[in-house]
Amino acid sequence: MYKLNKSQFSFYTLYTPLFFMENLPFNERYYQPPYKEMYRRSLEESESFWREMAQGIDWFSPFSKVLDSSNPPFFRWFPDGKVNICYNAVDRHLEFRRNKVALIWENEKGENKILTYYDLYTEVNRFASALQDLGIKKGDRVLIYLPLMPELPISMLALARIGAIHSVVFSGFSTQAVTDRINDAKAKLVITTSHTMRRGKRIELKRTIDDAVSQTPSVENVLVIKRDEEIDLNEDRDVLYQDLTKKKIVKKVEVEETLSTDPLFILYTSGTTGKPKGILHLHGGYGLWTYLTTNWVFDLKENDVFFNTADIGWITGHSYIVYGPLQNGATTLMYEGVPDYPNPDRWWDLVEKYGVTVFYTSPTAVRTLMRYGEEWVKNHDLSTLRLLGSVGEPINPEAWRWYFKNIGRSTLPIADTWWQTETGGIMISATPGLGNYMLKPSANGLPLPGVDADVFDENGDPAQSREKGYIVIKRPWPGMLAGVWGDPDRYVNTYFSKFHNVYYPGDYAVKDEDGFFYILGRADEVLKIAGHRIGTREIEDVLISHPAVAESAVIGVPDPVRGEVAVAAVVLKSGYSPSEELRKTLLDYIRSALGSFVVFGGLYFVTKLPKTRSGKIMRRVVKGVISGAPVGDTTTLEDETSIDELKKSIEEFSKEISQQKKE
Ligand code: WTA
Repeated sequence: MYKLNKSQFSFYTLYTPLFFMENLPFNERYYQPPYKEMYRRSLEESESFWREMAQGIDWFSPFSKVLDSSNPPFFRWFPDGKVNICYNAVDRHLEFRRNKVALIWENEKGENKILTYYDLYTEVNRFASALQDLGIKKGDRVLIYLPLMPELPISMLALARIGAIHSVVFSGFSTQAVTDRINDAKAKLVITTSHTMRRGKRIELKRTIDDAVSQTPSVENVLVIKRDEEIDLNEDRDVLYQDLTKKKIVKKVEVEETLSTDPLFILYTSGTTGKPKGILHLHGGYGLWTYLTTNWVFDLKENDVFFNTADIGWITGHSYIVYGPLQNGATTLMYEGVPDYPNPDRWWDLVEKYGVTVFYTSPTAVRTLMRYGEEWVKNHDLSTLRLLGSVGEPINPEAWRWYFKNIGRSTLPIADTWWQTETGGIMISATPGLGNYMLKPSANGLPLPGVDADVFDENGDPAQSREKGYIVIKRPWPGMLAGVWGDPDRYVNTYFSKFHNVYYPGDYAVKDEDGFFYILGRADEVLKIAGHRIGTREIEDVLISHPAVAESAVIGVPDPVRGEVAVAAVVLKSGYSPSEELRKTLLDYIRSALGSFVVFGGLYFVTKLPKTRSGKIMRRVVKGVISGAPVGDTTTLEDETSIDELKKSIEEFSKEISQQKKE
């Protein structure tokens, strides 16, 4: 598509170091075509623009209309077109890329599997046929609980192929979280495996599913993928994938000719209530958006090897391990393991071994590896890398510099991509694939074509340049969520009510005089722990389900590696008294309900929480007291003494703990 030519690249590399000097005057000539012209067209001639862009993917039958806006904010893209994302990610590459590597998988031990597009096609068909044998049909929901093994993308593609809806749940989530997600979507089937290995230790997965499905009436079968050894099966319910496919020769399962507006997947994410939201994405709009944005941002070339270190259990993996790269016919690398085991150069090993050209990771990962020092990078030849990316949370200058210097050889561009589960794909970033390499210190970049972004103040008026406000998207774009599963009101209230008919992502941002956006972090009660999104209310709900807990307030505090960690203030029920043991019990309780990715920086016992007169817990005040920051306006507090009380409890408890430690 829009390929970078050599002269643009040397221009960029020559000027890169300059962009990182504070207050560098912006110069119009740094905008490289065609970004600017495309951006203009995407807004001013949007109908013809999207018609043209949609030609990048294959349609079974063309759409007559680009966008149906008759029922805002339920926008529908290419409503009468027929398209299936599996066809675009797999089948269409058989003609020219049959023997090209589609997927590389490797684990901690260095075992690998390499699948060509033809291999992927075969595996997806085999899987689709097994799903049909289990009675899975168009529109059925299937929950996938798998680690980063090849069967994860294969099962997603197989479900898409037959028009069923996948709901992938991150394999770090525990029983309660899995149970809630199965029940919300009324999933008919769960796909899982025995275990995964993490830092050389076995993590059991099937057991979590066994516990969960005892509380999920909708589940008819559990499809189990055998790894190496025998697995205990429940005969009435569990089916071994290997048994189901053993004697069958499957050549082809016909691709369902889904409508552009047919559901592709649900992905649960946290919001401001205790109940996770099932974010819904559709075949056409999401398909096109991930196809285009992969190209615009990562500037894919035929010989690229794309390594995204995210887990497919989160949106980053859905869009930029699976659907974006594969629809572009790229080679995508997935690694089942952590970056620092057995050694902190595990990723650099992979980059060298497979000749990775585009590398996409999170600030947390960079900070983790930074702590081990540069030596671990130096022994590796990373010269194949040509483009870097960052996602998930704002990247702090120190981490940025380390990433740029050590991985980027002080020359490679870093695309700091801002987006969300809800946006389907990248919204704000540099777009090297469109010749736009513009970077400024701390800025995410300019909006991608079609993204009509702005910053609003509290009243819904455009904020002044460099004035902090809320980022908003003022018109629909193809990758936007289609709704919240089973809860249309929540979709409208969460995203389109703060500012009328304008999409509200819930992040603070600043825009400068050149139109560059700087995302500053969440404006709501959602935490980003190591880039993983979790609502404070979700953790509070788990805490209060414990018999010892009467009330709790959970907040986020800054953490040097994880960006943010959770801290809880807990009021105990009478009959229970604070102790180190109870503290440990509660932390374990949260971990076993939600998952160990919910990392805590502290849990304090208090006798009362600061509340408004209407009884709402003032987390802002709790946060101020715990982090030592100003608590702000307290005039609406019901009881001012709660602040002193909180301070005292924290001090006492800290003293107690240090005393216990000494003893
Ligand atoms: C945050 C992840 C700053 C933001 C793709 C957003 C970022 C939330 C960036 C969505 C970035 C993501 N700079 N903040 N480059 N990327 N965020 O749904 O707060 O897991 O609202 O999607 O992550 O998290 P989610």
